[in-house]
Amino acid sequence: MDKFRIIGRTPLKGQVHVSGAKNSALPCMAAALLSEETVILHNLPYVRDIITMRRLLEDMGCMVLMPERSTLKINASKIAFFEAPYELVKTMRASVLALGPLLARFGRASVSLPGGCAIGQRPIDLHLSGLEALGAKIELRSGNVVAVADRLKGTRIIFEKVTVTGTENLMMAASLAEGITVLENAAREPEVVDLAVLLNRMGARISGAGTSTITIEGVAKLRGAEHTIIPDRIEAGTFIAAAAITGGQLEITGCNPDHLGAVIDKFRQAGLHIERISDVALLVDGNVRLEAVDVATEPFPLFPTDMQAQFMATMTQARGRSVITENIFENRFMHASEMCRMGASINVQGRQAVVDGNRRLTGAKVQASDLRASASLVLAALAADGETIIDRVYHIDRGYDRIEEKLRSCGAQIERFRE
Ligand code: EPZ
Repeated sequence: MDKFRIIGRTPLKGQVHVSGAKNSALPCMAAALLSEETVILHNLPYVRDIITMRRLLEDMGCMVLMPERSTLKINASKIAFFEAPYELVKTMRASVLALGPLLARFGRASVSLPGGCAIGQRPIDLHLSGLEALGAKIELRSGNVVAVADRLKGTRIIFEKVTVTGTENLMMAASLAEGITVLENAAREPEVVDLAVLLNRMGARISGAGTSTITIEGVAKLRGAEHTIIPDRIEAGTFIAAAAITGGQLEITGCNPDHLGAVIDKFRQAGLHIERISDVALLVDGNVRLEAVDVATEPFPLFPTDMQAQFMATMTQARGRSVITENIFENRFMHASEMCRMGASINVQGRQAVVDGNRRLTGAKVQASDLRASASLVLAALAADGETIIDRVYHIDRGYDRIEEKLRSCGAQIERFRE
């Protein structure tokens, strides 16, 4: 199993280029199931989840070509299997994104119920109730969601909670439904907007993506399309945190600053100098006195839960006390105990973690528990005295494309090894 060895205390200096957004690439790949024509996606990150989604599509009968590392050509004209098996779903919950497209185009789908994961129970009840509202018949059969439908019929769906993949699943299903579907309390994440751009390029009629109310006018068929995935805002945010925690200076290119409003605001409140040098680049100066600030995670456009762990790592080096509130997932503080083993002072009480900053961190053997927690441990290790060994870096490989190479190019002492 791969591990990282990191020697800390080197301020990062240089330029990092942000890869495409994993959380946009995954629904866009699933959208190819909606058409018998080829969908071409560019700027995909080469990460484990993309490889898993490719395997899922191929197992269903899709032809998937990778002419280059960041491009996929997907053709779903010969789908023979309509299911996402447990073996794949348990490694990647986003497999449930196959549900809406299969049901909409073929009237049938069987997707293993994703179990919970490290960060929480993560049910998909809102996906299922939305599909039933569109006319699907859904039953649970030995751990699988089995769904059948004649032609789905448009309706109004109000999400009790903001759900990103729930919004994406229903937007895809409604694209081929009969009549109009209105999604209320829809997720506003940039990845939802990116999927809507692809679907409209495929001939869908979607308006309002990026707002809380999305209207979809169903069409009979969807054609192929070509699309470039948006930059990964969470990877960009992770590099902002890396500049902050090491007191370095980074130029972050290939990003979209418009997707990072709440993140930039929070790091500026903490004292960071962040300059927008173009529509696709930020200049971050972390050689400042970091001040503790409170943060609460909320749906976009507020502070993203996927940046919570990285922000916590940064606050261990800030002056004062920071209260971090996790409002999205019920168990997303596993990284706190590992950081405490490195000398941080973090007290977790339910949905709140209280960080007393100004603690020198020392290297240790630590273990990653989930994707963003592992990123936060890399950040803590970059700030720590001495050597840190991070185990189970396969978590980080799920969502970061060559992170150790990108960090090393800015002076970080980080290497991947296998024991
Ligand atoms: C997406 O997960 C992202 N994954 C997550 O990123 C991200 O943390 C999350 O959105 C929140 O922004 C992808 O896009 C592939 P939700 P998703 O449905 O869609 C509850 C990462 O690190 N809920 O928006 O699964 C749920 O339990 C990953 O890249 C229900 O109760 O998240 C949670 O508390 C981690 N019923 C809240 O809503 C449902 O049917 C938000 O979940 C669906 C969700």
